[in-house]
Amino acid sequence: MICEQDGIFHIGTEAYSYLIKINAYGIPEHVHFGAPVKTGDAAALSCRPGLGWGSGVLLNAQDSASCLDTLALEWSGSGRGDYRESPLELEGTSSDFRYSGFRILKGSVAMACGLPQAHGGLETLELTLEQPGAKLSLYYTAYPTALVRRTVLENTGDVPMRLNKLMSFCVDLPGAYHMATFNGGWIAEMRRHDVPVGGSKVVNESLTGASSNRHNPGFLLFEANAAEDAGRVYGFNLIYSGNHYAAAQQSLQGLTRVMQGVNPSNFSTELAPGKIFESPEAVLCFSGEGFGGLSRNMHSFVNGHIIPAYWQNRPRPVLYNSWEGCMFDFNQRRLLDLARRAKSLGCELFVLDDGWFGQRDHDKAGLGDYNVNKKKLPEGLEGLSRRIRDLGMEFGLWFEPESVNPDSDLYRVHPDWALTDSFPDVLGRYQLLLDLTKPEVRDYIVENVSRILDSAHISYVKWDMNRHSIALGEKAHGYMLGLYDVLRRIFGPRPGILLESCSSGGNRFDLGMLCFSPQVWASDDTDPIERLMIQGGLSYLYPQSTIGAHVSAAPHGQTLRATPLSTRGNVAFFGCLGYELDLKHLLPVEIKEIKAQVAFYKQYREVFQYGRFRRTELGWQVSDGSVTLAGVFHGLVHAAPGYEQLRIRGLKKDAVYRVVSLSQAIRVGQFGGLLKHVAPVSIDPNGPLLRIADRHFTLPGGGEELTVSGGALMSGIMLRPLFRGTGYDQNQRTQGDFGSDVYIVERL
Ligand code: DGJ
Repeated sequence: MICEQDGIFHIGTEAYSYLIKINAYGIPEHVHFGAPVKTGDAAALSCRPGLGWGSGVLLNAQDSASCLDTLALEWSGSGRGDYRESPLELEGTSSDFRYSGFRILKGSVAMACGLPQAHGGLETLELTLEQPGAKLSLYYTAYPTALVRRTVLENTGDVPMRLNKLMSFCVDLPGAYHMATFNGGWIAEMRRHDVPVGGSKVVNESLTGASSNRHNPGFLLFEANAAEDAGRVYGFNLIYSGNHYAAAQQSLQGLTRVMQGVNPSNFSTELAPGKIFESPEAVLCFSGEGFGGLSRNMHSFVNGHIIPAYWQNRPRPVLYNSWEGCMFDFNQRRLLDLARRAKSLGCELFVLDDGWFGQRDHDKAGLGDYNVNKKKLPEGLEGLSRRIRDLGMEFGLWFEPESVNPDSDLYRVHPDWALTDSFPDVLGRYQLLLDLTKPEVRDYIVENVSRILDSAHISYVKWDMNRHSIALGEKAHGYMLGLYDVLRRIFGPRPGILLESCSSGGNRFDLGMLCFSPQVWASDDTDPIERLMIQGGLSYLYPQSTIGAHVSAAPHGQTLRATPLSTRGNVAFFGCLGYELDLKHLLPVEIKEIKAQVAFYKQYREVFQYGRFRRTELGWQVSDGSVTLAGVFHGLVHAAPGYEQLRIRGLKKDAVYRVVSLSQAIRVGQFGGLLKHVAPVSIDPNGPLLRIADRHFTLPGGGEELTVSGGALMSGIMLRPLFRGTGYDQNQRTQGDFGSDVYIVERL
């Protein structure tokens, strides 16, 4: 619901209220963003500057409260008394926009520039502000659990105007907050980092040309006492995949100014008379129920209003990806062998990753040449995909269309298509980016990718991008508009193709890409213990349905950490499950365990992918209201571990539940010489007997069953004891380092 009453605008849903007041000077003041309130509460919620603070520049010399610097604002100009950071910079001129009108529109308002937008908005408030020669439109679209804001600047004068900065939103929130950002790099994405927001500005930005694995555009502001289940938390994100910028800073008056938009660094664009510039959409979310409440609001917004309509709430297939198992070393025979094995494990989609085209036998050549390598694939993609279909699986294919290797036919013919500057080229992973601001480059990509997609039975695409850009400012923004145009032209007419975006793993995990690709490859790091951090970081802002999560080999290629297969599965379950390892070398016990994992995941896939997510003391839980699945994850074990309690959230206290821990296989090989304590005969820990036993036999783990009330589960039930070196029996959890369990809680 959006309404206007005596200059007060109220945007309200069941999750939040957002109040704006147009003051006596035509300045939109920010009144409230938080728990639902009444429009009539505006006076009680507004800032009360009284007689002001002194030394301010006043809009009206007779009114000591008319100092812009001390008010909570919806937008801010420059040079007119507000000396905090401005969301707008027009070269060589101050700005002082005043309210000129409003409209309340049904649904959302389409943009002209081709940036991706959220869909299914309820209503939109358009506030118009003007100054001589320019008009500013502030858009507020209400969604049930989030508010989406964006800004449009129009040159209404008769001379060109130079725009150096235009944020998607700016707001002054009363109160003191901490900011949580999600930082990292390749194989180390989404590490949460908290800082208090005080008088010095805190900035979260990317300059790599992508939304980046260094600083995800999504961030939180929270009150110091906020916890997982309680406290006030705000979440912000940008529907954009390029260089972004967000800043938060607290004023002397205790107002925290927050803004977010396209990064203004090196940004400058000329607006001819009559022309407009549109900012990307920004998402603003609130919860009074802690980080958990905020995440669930964000998840519901992303699942319902960002993901392309066809894939909304659609179960995602269990896939097998060839990359970690084969890299560039494959041919049709090897792929079909892997496909047969993947099928027998229960996988539903076979994805051929890098290496299928041109001279792409390594990462130094071939990008840009999308002609099938007939030496590797003599029957082409049509033949391979048909055979995979005949096995009963879907077929998916990797592309990296935005890049070109200098060692490629494309580059030899069109060196001018690469993105360059006036200096000698600098390569990233031996490649350059193509200049997506050029229409002929976009046409080449659209034609070639479309041709291949239509030449075979392809139901999934992994769209990769593996280098940072050299483009700055306006050029970098133009590149993103070019990319969105390409994606729209390729996948718009093919909505049933499941697109998984990837950029060296999670280098472009953002809402812009998610408008086209329902899932994103979260990280090249598939070590489950690292994934707890990566998927855990993502969980604050993005739902499980968007997170590509694969089981790979152990010891892990990036950490050398050996983890149980059960834990690799248990962590990957909380996303879109896949397998990415050489299946030929699996032991019989591993094959059996993976089959069980896939069957279990399929049984509960909707709950894992779309259930309500919670971070808990011991791990994560997801729930669809009747089934709750709780993961309990351990790091390094300590000697003599104490009692452990599992607390499940969100149950009915008087209902009765059956709790079962997922069965798991404990490898006998891991006991080595310790087996002498239980085996009737002496066993050489390095001998063939143990090796054979380890291939074929496992000890039973998990499988605990309890019947217990919701009240007991919510206050915390005691789990079976962990192994303490005092003996072995089936009533304990004998797991060692990095062990884990999944508990299935079903209402009786
Ligand atoms: C980087 C991706 O993140 C990997 O999953 C894989 O697709 C490689 N590129 C292929 O070159």
